[in-house]
Amino acid sequence: MPQPFHLSYFLQGSSVHAWGSPFIGTIGQDWQSASFFRDLAQGLERACFDYLLIEDSIYVGENWQNSRDLFLKTGLCIPRQEPSVVATLLAASTSRLGIVPTLSTFAYHPYLTARITGSLDQISGGRAGWNMVTGSSDFAAQNFGMQAMPEHDKRYEMAEEYVEIVKGLWGSWAPGAQVGGLEPGEESGQLFDPSKVNTIDFEGEYYASRGPLNSGPTVQDRPVIAQAGGSKMGIRFAARHADTIVAAPDGAENMRAYREQVRAQMVENGRDPDSCKVLFLVSPIVEETEEMARWKSEQRRVEAEQNMDVRLARLGWTINIDFSEFDLDQPVGELTTNGHQTTLKQFLEAAGQNTLREAVLERATKGYGVDLVGTPDSVAAQMEEAMEVAGGDGFLIALGDLSRRSLATITDGLVPALQRRGLVRKKYEHEMLRDNLLAF
Ligand SMILES: Cc1cc2nc3c(=O)[nH]c(=O)nc-3n(C[C@H](O)[C@H](O)[C@H](O)COP(=O)(O)O)c2cc1C
Repeated sequence: MPQPFHLSYFLQGSSVHAWGSPFIGTIGQDWQSASFFRDLAQGLERACFDYLLIEDSIYVGENWQNSRDLFLKTGLCIPRQEPSVVATLLAASTSRLGIVPTLSTFAYHPYLTARITGSLDQISGGRAGWNMVTGSSDFAAQNFGMQAMPEHDKRYEMAEEYVEIVKGLWGSWAPGAQVGGLEPGEESGQLFDPSKVNTIDFEGEYYASRGPLNSGPTVQDRPVIAQAGGSKMGIRFAARHADTIVAAPDGAENMRAYREQVRAQMVENGRDPDSCKVLFLVSPIVEETEEMARWKSEQRRVEAEQNMDVRLARLGWTINIDFSEFDLDQPVGELTTNGHQTTLKQFLEAAGQNTLREAVLERATKGYGVDLVGTPDSVAAQMEEAMEVAGGDGFLIALGDLSRRSLATITDGLVPALQRRGLVRKKYEHEMLRDNLLAF
């Protein structure tokens, strides 16, 4: 029997992904209502995904010609609604799918993060997670009264304190704190045991919090922590705290190396490496025939050639560089950033001596970690092969042209093919997110 793997979905903030494609539906009118997000979550639940991760960034991009124009004109990386609000709606629309909003450490006080995710855990019946990101854009920092983001490694140093508070607050209600009202028909009496609800009195260099959490006990032992650090500091942090890691190494061999590194560091930290699931970012193209899938894959390059400015703005948005003054026909050369260092490193390695134009086209043509292109059955086989090389634990799927139509290629085409091969679950084993993550 093959070893089954986990599936999750990476919702890149906005509901207007398909804007500019032929399949926009009525998204121009109803993007605000989040009805599309609801359809997405219900589709993923039908396909038994572990969780939906709601990405976030908290600014309107300006990384192209020092202006917001291109971002606004094309709906690039905006609009982004507040993730915990969207998460609440999705929790109410589903019953098994894990809901994992991104809450950036620079923007939410740790008490607020503990309270939001704790409340989400309650109203979802134990399906809440938290995507822990430090944020990386100075534009975002300026929305919160700072001039710039703290330096990259310092952000992780601060995050160590931050996560200690969040975990402490989740634990400020000890197991068994509720003593009354546990059975239907029970008469009102004492509700909580005060000796089991305690302050944490945390005084750090960067943050402080007294506690206890006023929202009450969490349903899961504690909400699931997701993390995506790729740098040395990022991996160190993930190995200490994450229950699931979302990562985008280039190629199955690098996926394997990344996972082995995380697992070795988990062991050094006294953690069971199987207690954290590493999910690799992919963007499958699934069509009725191989020819159709290859044509669609080729369209990524054609589309990128026609919209070089949008592609460069999108890359610049991720790594905080404005490429608008760069010569497209010169080698990329050396670049540095205080933003996503891992993305930049991968881009530079893949670019080599290529020109910026060639490097961007190459990036546009590939579907993240491993390129998955074909029919439902052949993509399922490609995923099986990649997982065998990587060693586990599963995939984080993101579709660049997310629409109800493209979603169906995954939920109604690819997933049944994976199920037939025994590679993914056919029904949820449990009600809560962590239990499902740990089911295999
Ligand atoms: C799959 C994936 C999802 C991510 N989601 C977010 C996000 O929602 N918000 C954000 O600010 N950063 C996000 N990041 C960026 C990471 O938090 C991190 O900054 C990045 O992977 C670079 O790693 P490093 O900071 O260790 O260099 C994501 C990264 C990956 C690979």
